[in-house]
Amino acid sequence: MISDRAKNLKPSPTLALSAKAKELASQGHDVISLSVGEPDWDTLECAKRAGIDAIVKGQSKYTPSNGLPDLRKAIATQTSNDLGLTFSPDEVTVSAGGKYVLFAAIQTAINPGDEVIIPAPYWVSYPVMVELAGGRPVCAVCTERENFKITPEILRKHLTPKTKMIILNSPSNPTGLMYSREELAGLAKVLREFPDVLIISDDIYNRLVFEMPVAPHILQAAPDLRARTLVMNGASKTYSMTGWRVGWALGPMAWIKAMTNYESQSVSQAPTMSQWATVTAINEGAGELKTALQELKTRRDRGLQELSKISGLRVGKPDGAFYFWPDISSCFGRKYIGREIRNSSDFSTTLLDVQKVAVVPGIEFGLEGYVRLSYALKEERMKEAFKRMNDFIRELN
Ligand SMILES: Cc1ncc(COP(=O)(O)O)c(C=O)c1O
Repeated sequence: MISDRAKNLKPSPTLALSAKAKELASQGHDVISLSVGEPDWDTLECAKRAGIDAIVKGQSKYTPSNGLPDLRKAIATQTSNDLGLTFSPDEVTVSAGGKYVLFAAIQTAINPGDEVIIPAPYWVSYPVMVELAGGRPVCAVCTERENFKITPEILRKHLTPKTKMIILNSPSNPTGLMYSREELAGLAKVLREFPDVLIISDDIYNRLVFEMPVAPHILQAAPDLRARTLVMNGASKTYSMTGWRVGWALGPMAWIKAMTNYESQSVSQAPTMSQWATVTAINEGAGELKTALQELKTRRDRGLQELSKISGLRVGKPDGAFYFWPDISSCFGRKYIGREIRNSSDFSTTLLDVQKVAVVPGIEFGLEGYVRLSYALKEERMKEAFKRMNDFIRELN
């Protein structure tokens, strides 16, 4: 009954873990989840009001497949200001969430056999999306030595005549680390030698940064790459609108048009009221975002202090997003009451069983030896979770 394509589709790796966490919670356990990939604060007030207004005013019918003109204009203006380039609303396509926009981007650019370079650790969905398009994900492993970022040398090593695309994500899910403009310039220098390679810049966390208004971008470092770069972003993380489902991309007209056709024949569009809410979030949300970011930065700093006290863990300071990426490999080979911790999956499962704390194993992001912890939760809960992790690691022998 089921197609080969669907048969080979792996379920989202975090699902089993969150199902287990939910089951434990329903049995009355006090489970703390550090595994979620969304802000814990509410959608910006101004966006909520705009969404409600849109419904009340009857703005609940179809929009053009590439998005409301007002929204494309707001996106074009914001991105032009961010990157110091001029984008027109025609160079924008909006669809039902960043994930679907990426899916459409890959479906419309990748032919069977094409290779896509994905720096690891990576967001779990990239390799699957490439496979669904018949492409071959080429994971370029970037270790702690490279600060988990692809370097010009690693990039060069993975480029072949079959390379069609590279996907960059800064700040990164899962590490929270971002590329500097100089690092991006170094990558651009190599990419100039390969003029047929497309670039997707997944900027979904680019405003959730602490030291500057917006993360550095490859098109700031190398505006000459514009004709083959797709800039992707969305409302989910920045405005805490994960459930509203609005994402977008800006790029070369031919690619944007192909994506819009693809979107129009599949999901049609992003929800109309969500699009109106996003117009307001972009145009009026800066103040509220600033407040949310101050809180997030405090959590990062306090969380880092607490995590650094846990012996057996090593953790760096993330530049943005809301993830810590500690090295837990010193726990490997040790045992919890006879149960050996061989890898990050064992670590996560045993931690959940014993201390009721849910974290995501690093191996799911393509790099063993780490776990991803979200700090998008109240400080007291985060401290309690880290205390439990400390107890867990201390009890390993
Ligand atoms: C790196 C990255 N890109 C894209 C997305 C897509 O987000 P959404 O589909 O909610 O816009 C996510 C969500 O987790 C992400 O972490």
